[in-house]
Amino acid sequence: MSTLITNIAELMTQGLDHRVLKNAAVVVEGERIAWLGAAAGAPAADEVVDAGGRAVLPGWVDSHTHLIFAGDRSAEFEARMAGESYSAGGIAVTTGATRNASDFELTRLAMGRVAEAVAQGTTYLETKTGYGLDVENEARSARIASSVVDEVTYLGAHLVPAGRDAEEYTDLVCGPMLSAVRPYVRWADVFCERGAFTEDQSRRVLQACRQAGLGLRVHGNQLGEGPGVQLAVEFGAASVDHVNYVSGADVEALAGSWAGWDPGSGGKRGTVATCLPACDLSTRQPLAPGRELLDAGAQLALASNCNPGTSYTSSMAFCVTTAVLQMRLSVHEAVRAATYGGALALGRDTGNDADGERAVGSIAVGHRADLHVLNAPSATHLAYRPGIPLTHAVWRAGVRAR
Ligand code: NIG
Repeated sequence: MSTLITNIAELMTQGLDHRVLKNAAVVVEGERIAWLGAAAGAPAADEVVDAGGRAVLPGWVDSHTHLIFAGDRSAEFEARMAGESYSAGGIAVTTGATRNASDFELTRLAMGRVAEAVAQGTTYLETKTGYGLDVENEARSARIASSVVDEVTYLGAHLVPAGRDAEEYTDLVCGPMLSAVRPYVRWADVFCERGAFTEDQSRRVLQACRQAGLGLRVHGNQLGEGPGVQLAVEFGAASVDHVNYVSGADVEALAGSWAGWDPGSGGKRGTVATCLPACDLSTRQPLAPGRELLDAGAQLALASNCNPGTSYTSSMAFCVTTAVLQMRLSVHEAVRAATYGGALALGRDTGNDADGERAVGSIAVGHRADLHVLNAPSATHLAYRPGIPLTHAVWRAGVRAR
């Protein structure tokens, strides 16, 4: 079955050959992109969809979320808006509610959040464990996550549970807990921050998870300057997320990590700096220095960080709008960071058409057909019309999802 989507006013391909095609068309065949180019030269297909002069982008790639949770923290949010500051301790509140929820309830809640994201144009999603914080509940979270999202990250090292010795808990994270989650996860993460895990503890977690064959990510430099960014680069982590308080040396390390990277030949990859602007606003932290990072040559991703404590939104459009209006990214840069940047952060920017492991986050022949049609003639409207829901249609892996 093939579908020709034609009469596209602006097609943003993203990826390496980032192009903006005017009066374009795309052909979707099964789960892959089969053709793209000028509408006038489009091939025939089984079905034709008229995009009506709208813009088409790759679906959003949300590379940082925490969707496996129960409970509500709106009172904490309210207190923060009244002047309290955010601290990692709130994670314990969600952990209590999550442990008390049934598998059915946790799955239902997570599926609802995924559906909400897809309805807003997100077509590829990562999510983390991290509200279980014991062997049984971390494994349960990982299992449920693996049934509802594309990529799962083990975040047993989110917070040391109250009353537990931090070193002993780190041993658990690196030992029995890691073995229990291993069948369900591809990534591991650690919250390397004051009030969460120290540099030494983070190092132990990263070493153990690397040894277990997991790709690495780090929550770093969210609440103050710290070792997170340097640790992420040292370990060759795919991404370091938050990056609000970075030094000149941190910026240099992130940019330098990509030196010599040749996407064509799959050379050594660097560490993506993942900015989470909705979280920065919701915690009243300074926005991450996305402009500075890009200007220095770092690779940037934008993600929602959807979670009940610091960022209860799955709106990638909101993140893009904020990145343009407040972080001084151009619309192209922000859309790239929210699509191709997220794919880079998840190691899914490339794929192999032949074996069906398809690239996401960009529109090219052989890539996964993840398309986001805006109810606007250009992507500029994402920032020009802030707050207006602009998602018109979504294809996820070739299937019409909205
Ligand atoms: O990415 N920073 C650590 N983890 C989450 C917040 C978790 C929470 O407060 O529930 C984040 O912001």
